[in-house]
Amino acid sequence: MKNKNSFNLLSVFLIALIFVAFISCKKDTKKSASKSIASIERSTEEVLYRPNFHFTPKANWMNDPNGMFYLNGKYHLYFQYYPEGNVWGPMHWGHAISEDMITWQEQQIALYPDELGLIFSGSAVVDKNNTSGFGKDGITPIVAIYTYHNMDGEKAGELNFQTQAIAYSLDEGMTWTKYDKNPVISNPGIKDFRDPKVIWDANSSKWIMALAAADKIMFYSSTNLKDWNLESEFGQEFGQHNGMWECPDLFPIKIEGTDKTKWVLIVSINPAAPNGGSGTQYFIGDFDGTKFTLDTNFKTQLEKQKAVWLDYGRDNYAGVTWSNIPEQDGRKLFIGWMSNWEYARDVPTETWRSAMTIPRELKLKKSENNYLLVSNPVSELSKYVSKIIIKDTLHVNRQKTIISKNEVDLSRISLQLEIKNLNESKYTFLFHNKFGDSLSFGLDNIEKKYFVNRQKSGKVAFSDKFSNTISKANRMNSSSTLNVQVLMDKTSIEVFYNDGETVMTEIFFPNQPFETLSVITSDEKLIIEHLKIEELKSN
Ligand code: FRU
Repeated sequence: MKNKNSFNLLSVFLIALIFVAFISCKKDTKKSASKSIASIERSTEEVLYRPNFHFTPKANWMNDPNGMFYLNGKYHLYFQYYPEGNVWGPMHWGHAISEDMITWQEQQIALYPDELGLIFSGSAVVDKNNTSGFGKDGITPIVAIYTYHNMDGEKAGELNFQTQAIAYSLDEGMTWTKYDKNPVISNPGIKDFRDPKVIWDANSSKWIMALAAADKIMFYSSTNLKDWNLESEFGQEFGQHNGMWECPDLFPIKIEGTDKTKWVLIVSINPAAPNGGSGTQYFIGDFDGTKFTLDTNFKTQLEKQKAVWLDYGRDNYAGVTWSNIPEQDGRKLFIGWMSNWEYARDVPTETWRSAMTIPRELKLKKSENNYLLVSNPVSELSKYVSKIIIKDTLHVNRQKTIISKNEVDLSRISLQLEIKNLNESKYTFLFHNKFGDSLSFGLDNIEKKYFVNRQKSGKVAFSDKFSNTISKANRMNSSSTLNVQVLMDKTSIEVFYNDGETVMTEIFFPNQPFETLSVITSDEKLIIEHLKIEELKSN
């Protein structure tokens, strides 16, 4: 009885409580309920998907890196930015500054669209000799060279709606004044005519601009950054086509271990990348101040493989190099947009969309007759190593858990493999979580290919182009040792095979963080000679 009474009292109390709660809840609008759900989703997204040591804008849409220069201890990065939405829209130049290319401080917007058009991709140079005359009172001007994209012209079906323009900054890139006589290069009737990348060519004492024009590159020269002359064209008969050529970059580089200099021409293409959608190819040759000529060895290389790619993964696009890196540093420093036009607008982050790749140092290697533009993460990344785990001589008999630790999704993993069965083995390194998601990379000795497989990596259904294929790249040598460096940052994997000779960069969106790394082999003969796992943390 007692129990029953107390039960009744309790239930009356509970019903009253629920009633009061219900009434007070009703006062809240549906809007605020959905608001709090949205804010929970946003914070989950921050924790789960915001990269830790890769640049992302705080909010909204970003694509190509633009106008990168170094000055007085600071690396500047501008980027294609739409501040009012999380999909591509009227383009501005966003801006971020870093002292080490890893930790970035986002700045106010640098360039806004105006009556001449939207602000598309381009570059920036430090005009030390004030060739432009924009400098005042001894202040060195920074000059940005960018494309105007005129929407009205495009809508009207005209061909000449993309032109090249300049702006200058007298406060180290913080604020910009557009040149009052823009555009500096008007359109010769080529619909896709954009992405000027300018360098100072000391040999010819001229500024040289590489510009993408449909499916070729046009080179212009100038002595003052204002008046430009067309010098030559390159590319219609070389490399990959079937897509738009975009975001070129031309620069000299030493062949490793020699005093010889060659010229590299980087050209992004969309679509028609080796594993689908957007990708970046390169050419090695010579530039005489007027004309880019392919190196004969590189020409032979192209006869064998049609195009040579900077990155065989699906998410490194529109990348170019920094200008004004001091001579005593001397590095060629590169950063790319870590996405692909096939699905960039659909990736499952709402607050911001897309990240940049890890900044990379480029080097030119020549082996026998082949040239290779090798990429590796900048050494500054090592400052962020918070913990190191080293393991030596691991024998793998078909399956082994290498490490089971939460931090595996924020790490640099260096592997030195000894391959005993060079012709018949397949080695799959697999990140997984308790949810059942997995992401793998590895080497297939039967196909002679490296691979990255994100088909089961978590959220993949947002685009049917995201996980329809496994990305692959030819393994060019057949040595029995292989060094691999892998960077994991929550939603991206960057694999540097064979000391950066073949790179694969891909993004992914797991339901939970990856916490275990295992390896599966087709035989019992793989030896991991050396394994180093470095936890990375930037904030
Ligand atoms: C490359 C690109 C460029 C263009 C910009 C527009 O991703 O298409 O050619 O300038 O994006 O945002």
